[in-house]
Amino acid sequence: MSVPDTEIAKTEAVTFDAFDPKHWPDPYPRYAVTREATPLLRTPLDVHLVTRYEHQAAILQDNNWSHAHEAELFHPGVEHTDLPTSFLWMDPPDHTRLRGLVSKAFTPRTVADLRPRVERLVAELFDKMVAAGEFDLVPMLAYPLPLTIIAELLGAPAEDHPDLQRWSHALARGFDPDPLLSPDERDARTQAAREFVAYFRELIGRRRVSPRADLISELARVEEQGDVLTEDEMLATCVTLLVAGHETSVNLVSNGILALMRNPGQYALLRERPELAAPAVEEMLRYDSPVHMTTRLALAATEVAGHQFDAGDGVVLLFGSANRDPEAFPDPDRFDITRYATDASVNRHLTFSLGIHYCLGAPLARLEMETALRELVRRGIEMAETDELVYRPNLVLRGIKTFPARFTQTITP
Ligand code: HEM
Repeated sequence: MSVPDTEIAKTEAVTFDAFDPKHWPDPYPRYAVTREATPLLRTPLDVHLVTRYEHQAAILQDNNWSHAHEAELFHPGVEHTDLPTSFLWMDPPDHTRLRGLVSKAFTPRTVADLRPRVERLVAELFDKMVAAGEFDLVPMLAYPLPLTIIAELLGAPAEDHPDLQRWSHALARGFDPDPLLSPDERDARTQAAREFVAYFRELIGRRRVSPRADLISELARVEEQGDVLTEDEMLATCVTLLVAGHETSVNLVSNGILALMRNPGQYALLRERPELAAPAVEEMLRYDSPVHMTTRLALAATEVAGHQFDAGDGVVLLFGSANRDPEAFPDPDRFDITRYATDASVNRHLTFSLGIHYCLGAPLARLEMETALRELVRRGIEMAETDELVYRPNLVLRGIKTFPARFTQTITP
């Protein structure tokens, strides 16, 4: 459905305030107000917010929209340190080539083989939480689960994991538009990028000399008709896999468990029917998306929602809004773990994106969360929030910073 320019003009007065910290605990009613009023909202930074599912899905699948220029939109004028560019921020043909090579090392098989390790780690983390009784879920489960798995997979020794977490956190904070960052946060991002590069350069060097059964050694080995990853491409890939591989999943774990706590009927249903764990993960991804936005830049003149964009125009796609669009999802504000179990025609949520940049780590994120859900059920965990939540000050990555919780185990498996 195309919306005439007059509608956009009429709604320029809409105030978009979902990013106001007072709305962080529940930005969805604020997204709804804007989405209902207009499909596109021009911001003071002269980019348009795209509010509805239909237009976001179309842009993501249209190669006239580039992801190679995010820095121009969110980080204008920033001196980009020695961190080489990842294929996440490239267009074809460079993106196609690199994603192809990386996919040869990081395969569905790689993820499937991780299942026993993920199960063991989840069991260990649950032992600690049950023993503690009351704790902060973020450092006890949400962080250590994805961080340990992706760091081990890459081949980073356990004693380095705290450094990797610190640097990742500084980079992830820096995904937000620069005007929202303090000078200290911008400096920390620059410093983290340098430390990451030095760290992985050294580790890659060691693995080239003596390969092991890890992903870095595998990335060093991949070859497609004589084409291989260069040193810079390996560096960018390692940093992307590490950061994308846990700074997002941490929010899936905490936002997902919160949704279950706040919807006890759905948790009861999961305990009755543990086979709903996989569709429950999908619904968690939709209902409270760990990634709330991405950007695209027009490579050529193109029309969206009746508005004419010129080459060089930027858009911000609000995944958090698309995933609650009633045109795409019936009764979108209802958390329903059967949504993806019963109705094959249900729209895919946009949380892992669509099109050529569709998340390469989606199977791993799903495996980790599904394993955590199965463990909750296996141990008959009764759970509750014990104090106020604190949200992370991050608009791109939506998640909880402090999550006071109580777990009581009712079944000894
Ligand atoms: C819940 C967890 C996760 C979420 C919500 C998520 C979300 C996303 C999104 C939205 C994109 C595309 C961005 C865009 O189109 O602008 C993306 C790309 C990517 N993700 Fe994930 N991700 C998650 C977990 C992971 C994990 C566990 C890994 C790796 C171990 C990973 C690796 C990647 C990579 C390499 C890309 C780039 C793909 C490309 O550009 O072709 N992600 N992810």
